[in-house]
Amino acid sequence: MPTSDPALTAPAYREAMTRVASAVHLVTTDGPGGRAGFTATAVCSVSDAPPTLLVCLNRSGSAYPAFRDNDGLCVNTLSAEHAPLAEAFGGGLPPGERFAAARWERLVTGAPVLPGALAAFDCRIVGRNRAGTHEVLICEVLALTRAEPADGLLYAGRRYRVLPEQDAEALSRTA
Ligand SMILES: Cc1cc2nc3c(=O)[nH]c(=O)nc-3n(C[C@H](O)[C@H](O)[C@H](O)COP(=O)(O)O)c2cc1C
Repeated sequence: MPTSDPALTAPAYREAMTRVASAVHLVTTDGPGGRAGFTATAVCSVSDAPPTLLVCLNRSGSAYPAFRDNDGLCVNTLSAEHAPLAEAFGGGLPPGERFAAARWERLVTGAPVLPGALAAFDCRIVGRNRAGTHEVLICEVLALTRAEPADGLLYAGRRYRVLPEQDAEALSRTA
């Protein structure tokens, strides 16, 4: 096993992660622990049988107590037109003011669902693992919605970017 690299600091890791382009989501919850939501890029598909994804949640964030005490959440995957919402839920607005920035619906768990989200995955939290500063939430998808294809919202290099739905520069095409 190689010894640890002294240059491998938390800031160096964060700087390296700015090179990783990610989709942007609003992760929301509601229930006995209250309503809460935050902007997230640390979301990943795990399995399609059963449909399962994971969300990494910072335990020092304002939303943590609600996600700790509730057993449902919704991952709302954002389109480019939702950039102001990403800003609001990423700390641009105080927690108590974030939900007033949009209209919300519900599916199965009661977590807020954003109409017009590229996709919304309404989930039951079926596992929790602590990793460093974060909690990894394993989430079974109980219901979903899909909007018409639209420009996606990405985060890379510490700023939001647009992923065009009609991409003339695509490197390869499927038949
Ligand atoms: C683009 C972006 C991606 C983020 N991704 C995550 C994430 O995956 N997990 C997380 O816990 N926080 C993430 N955050 C931070 C949360 O959105 C957090 O709510 C925000 O920093 C505000 O903190 P507060 O809710 O304590 O006010 C991200 C923030 C931004 C702007």
